[in-house]
Amino acid sequence: MSRARVAVLISGRGSNMAALIEAAKDPAYPAEIVLVLSNIADAGGLDIAQAAGIETAVIAHAPFGKDREAHERMIDARLRQSGVHIVALAGYMRVLTPYLVETWAGRMINIHPSLLPAFPGLHTHQRALEAGVAKHGCTVHLVTTGVDEGPILGQAEVEVLPGDDEDRLGARVLEQEHKLYARCLADLVGALGD
Ligand code: GAR
Repeated sequence: MSRARVAVLISGRGSNMAALIEAAKDPAYPAEIVLVLSNIADAGGLDIAQAAGIETAVIAHAPFGKDREAHERMIDARLRQSGVHIVALAGYMRVLTPYLVETWAGRMINIHPSLLPAFPGLHTHQRALEAGVAKHGCTVHLVTTGVDEGPILGQAEVEVLPGDDEDRLGARVLEQEHKLYARCLADLVGALGD
């Protein structure tokens, strides 16, 4: 059976990307990571991907100034060059325009560090602590034009413990992110059935 060809888009350390690469080392996993693409030239995750023998690309956003769509056209061309079927955003910290979102509708997923629809946006762990929630966690969802709004593919819950701070809570959520993302990507490949 041929495996789905997945590109992972990152802007930073790439621990979720690394978890997907790890999952895909199992030949029975239904996806392979064929490209890691970053908008940041020195994103730490690029080194991890290269060490794993995965093709990487950097398409910096700065040269495009305010023309976000022109940046995304370059990204799209690179994804097609690698014959990608599915795009997984993993700490890709750019808001996408409708151009890229609609081009990859149903085939672009994102991981977010909260139980959406609670706490979209940034600083989710701090905001969860301030809100005094008992349960926090992470979400994998299809990407739509509304930020952190697409249909939810899966969630993992984490209990907020007495004495938690942003780092401790964030670390426990991240551990769950790594498992959830690999599972949801495999489920999506199964649901797409191609
Ligand atoms: C992850 O916690 C991910 O959920 C979050 O950025 C972190 C990236 O870490 N994404 C967002 O906040 C997107 N809205 P990683 O580079 O180690 O995977």
